Amino acid sequence: MSILGDGRFYVRFLRDPVDCLIRLERDPDAKRDFVRKGRQISFLLGPRANEAILGDPDTFHVQPITLPGPEGSAQRRIGEGLVNLNGPIHKRHRKLLVPPLAGSALDAYHAPVTDAVDAMLDGWRPGETRDLLGEMNGLAVRVSAATLFAMEDPVEAERVASTIDRWFKMNTAPGVRLFQRSFAGAPYARMLRAAQEVEETMLALVAKRRAEGAEGDDILSRLIRAKGEGGAPLDDVELVGELTIAFVASHETTSKALAWTLFLLAQHPDETRRVVEEIATLVGDGRPSVEDLAGLQTLDRALKESLRILPPVAFNVRRARRDAEVLGRFLPAGSTAVFSHYLTHHDREIYPEPERFRPDRWVGFAASQFEYLPFSAGPRRCIGEGFTTRMQKITLIRLLQRFRFTIVPGSRFDRHQAVTVAPRAGVPVTLHPADGGFARVPVVGNVRQMVELD
Ligand code: HEM
Repeated sequence: MSILGDGRFYVRFLRDPVDCLIRLERDPDAKRDFVRKGRQISFLLGPRANEAILGDPDTFHVQPITLPGPEGSAQRRIGEGLVNLNGPIHKRHRKLLVPPLAGSALDAYHAPVTDAVDAMLDGWRPGETRDLLGEMNGLAVRVSAATLFAMEDPVEAERVASTIDRWFKMNTAPGVRLFQRSFAGAPYARMLRAAQEVEETMLALVAKRRAEGAEGDDILSRLIRAKGEGGAPLDDVELVGELTIAFVASHETTSKALAWTLFLLAQHPDETRRVVEEIATLVGDGRPSVEDLAGLQTLDRALKESLRILPPVAFNVRRARRDAEVLGRFLPAGSTAVFSHYLTHHDREIYPEPERFRPDRWVGFAASQFEYLPFSAGPRRCIGEGFTTRMQKITLIRLLQRFRFTIVPGSRFDRHQAVTVAPRAGVPVTLHPADGGFARVPVVGNVRQMVELD
């Protein structure tokens, strides 16, 4: 049966892309190119397709994750961040954005991140029920605001973060996307107004930081000081675009990655016990140092395996700027290429028993960048990988030092796809003292299509 031959495929794909991708993969006869509104959409699956697409960013341009907005609008300006850019402007901005998120620059964020995690955990008590997706989202928002913008006043940080968050959610809402008309009261018009609010808030923040001398270790201050090729730094409008989009790219993904990892740990008591033992041996009860993070190999492998089996970015798309050929298939200029991190990570040729959460598969095994790509691959690979890896490790260490947790019985785990994949109803858990008594509570839902849990 050809699932792409079915005209309803596109609607089904929008509703549950992972399910469609899995079906496509399982049916070798399925049509993989189809046409919608005169444009070809091609599904190009597997490591060789990833390499052909991601290795050639001049031919395959990204599709913005935010709506373009009218010429000269705040919507258009604040969307001008790395994830959305192509061509020479992307190259210029990337050179400026990488250094504040690389190497020893990351050490400066260790203490603020640990403080934010501890502040969250100080409010938790054994016996409580909490949604770990909601908690991780709140944490990732606070951490992103603290490190990107260095905002000391938590109330002000929360206000800026929620202004951006509200605007970004409007960008992904079907009602806004499908009906882009700006008459009064229309959801699209509300989004354009929210964009103005974001821009005003962020411009004020940039002006304040400049007035203070921009001497801090936060990313905004570093970017204000950074010099591009020929000495041209980012101007205020460019800074606002980059910070707004980096804020979205940072917390949207990190919160989902942490939530899925905590879910997987709750479902794999033996693996969790090993992680906890390693933390007890190498870190003890105190705050981890920067050096401690590098030594925790069991934790490292658990995180790596979590991002393999449940990558927050399950698939992505590119637009062909010119006629191209990928693995013998013709893509006319203007066509869309869909490729999948999720399917690549579940390819049994690369990963035996792909639906099994087995962190030890990484002992003595290395995958190529196009076989393992939770952070993408090639010249546009994620620039936040080092930052988020450290942040996730600190969060898991501090949480597991203080608590054990079990999934609330009867919970349902279905995926929800927006820009990233998240557990639709969150990760509801009961908190316990860190007493080592790990136990799995059976769950239902379509997550079981992605991970074997028995
Ligand atoms: C677990 C967490 C994260 C995951 C899974 C993730 C994943 C990704 C992926 C798949 C891409 C490529 C997007 C594309 O192909 O169009 C990407 C790009 C990007 N990410 Fe991340 N990311 C994470 C965390 C972060 C953080 C913490 C930051 C910022 C501090 C960040 C900033 C960016 C930026 C700016 C880009 C665009 C790079 C470019 O196009 O040159 N990400 N990320």
